Amino acid sequence: MENRPQWGTRAGFILAAVGSAVGLGNIWRFPATAYENGGGAFFLPYLFALLTAGIPLLILEFTMGHKFRGSAPTSFSRLSKGTEWLGWWQVAISFVISTYYAVIIAWAMAYAVFSFKLTWGENTEGFLFSEYLKLAEAPGQMGSIVPSVIIPLVIVWVITLGVLIAGVKKGIELANKIFIPALVVMFLIIVVRALTLDGAAAGLDAFFKPDWTKIADGKVWVAAYGQIFFSLSIAFAIMITYSSYLPKKSDITNNAFITGFSNSAFELLAGIGVFSALGFMAAQAGVPVKEVVSGGVGLAFVVFPQIINQLPALNGLFGFLFFACLVLAGLSSLISIIETYVAGVQEKFNVSRTTSVVLGGGIAAIISLLFATQGGLFYLDVADYFINNFGVALAGLFEVITVAWIVKELKSFQSHADAVSDIKLGLWWRICLAVITPVVLGYMMFDNLRTNLTSEYGDYPREFIFSSGWSVALGAILIGVLFSIKKKSQHLSS
Ligand code: PFF
Repeated sequence: MENRPQWGTRAGFILAAVGSAVGLGNIWRFPATAYENGGGAFFLPYLFALLTAGIPLLILEFTMGHKFRGSAPTSFSRLSKGTEWLGWWQVAISFVISTYYAVIIAWAMAYAVFSFKLTWGENTEGFLFSEYLKLAEAPGQMGSIVPSVIIPLVIVWVITLGVLIAGVKKGIELANKIFIPALVVMFLIIVVRALTLDGAAAGLDAFFKPDWTKIADGKVWVAAYGQIFFSLSIAFAIMITYSSYLPKKSDITNNAFITGFSNSAFELLAGIGVFSALGFMAAQAGVPVKEVVSGGVGLAFVVFPQIINQLPALNGLFGFLFFACLVLAGLSSLISIIETYVAGVQEKFNVSRTTSVVLGGGIAAIISLLFATQGGLFYLDVADYFINNFGVALAGLFEVITVAWIVKELKSFQSHADAVSDIKLGLWWRICLAVITPVVLGYMMFDNLRTNLTSEYGDYPREFIFSSGWSVALGAILIGVLFSIKKKSQHLSS
């Protein structure tokens, strides 16, 4: 425990936490989610979710890591022996996410190169699915490995595992100190360019125009909480692990506010950039903005290439910057999520950091090959949906209920955080975690379950949903329990 690695500087920790939070979720998820859920009016539930769940949970996770100085499983077991499984469950969820997140970064890397020659041509959709991904005809057909995906995928794994082997200070901290400032500068260039395009104003108008009628809809609030959870990397075991490397004298609460607000600022910036560009595209096509709005894979790999095609000048450079931003934002999140199992395995099995990276990262890299096959996109879509809805959100619910109601440690966590932080926590913090968050997450789970038990996500065949969705989400729980049952290895301990 004494030899635990530490962040070199406070800024290093904050950059790493922000690096984890700022990911694909900010760039391709937030803008479309905000638009669909009331535009400007969405900011109300969004801010509410940030202040009542996002930042309070971030403070909780930072406190846990700082207090117990261990990976998520170790921290939970120090909280109370019986809760170790919860830590492993979160680690298992993170493991699954890392296997497909790496593949998306690989696509972005390939597209960064394609930008220079506009390789995708006029039919960007056809290019993505038929030529680049060589997508299988039906879900569940695996087909062969796609060479144009596997080459960048190998590069992604080499960089990520290389950074992790180099350690907390010389690897993770250093990488984030380079990636995050570079990301911000490059992204600002994109936003300024997008803002000066014809039609940008119409795009922004569509984005910010509030639709107050939506506010009364429970779904909008669920969407706000979902976005905050995913975006802040909460209940992924990440923030507990990262804060376990904080020196004893470190501010907790202030750091959580800085991380939360920085992440939201980047989200807003992404909304402005994406909608300016969508406004430009709509103007070029002579259609209303609402017809070109999209999110996720479609936004990044179909719509953006179209926008890049139509730019008046320097298309290649703009395209490169956009995809490079996805790569940087993605890599810093990927590093954080893999660190959860690197640290967990290292502590449980008493092995060196390198062994743990090679073993854990190696297995993840092999599994990620599944998503680099022709059927990859279907597996990815379903696994992503289920692991988020029945993994992250559910684990978050268990986490708050455990701390607030089962082991009843909120008060002692509050004194721990207050002892080192500038900002002192009040009753509001405990109410947010003990009442508001469980109620909202509980409702969210109920709603999710109801939807998924009555209809099949994405109209996929039932067997496919079962084999690639439910079994992945349930498998993560099972793995969590199995790992927690196993005794900690004692040999080699120093
Ligand atoms: N906060 C991240 C995002 O917005 O993309 C969520 C995340 C996803 C973190 C995947 C880490 C990760 F590997």
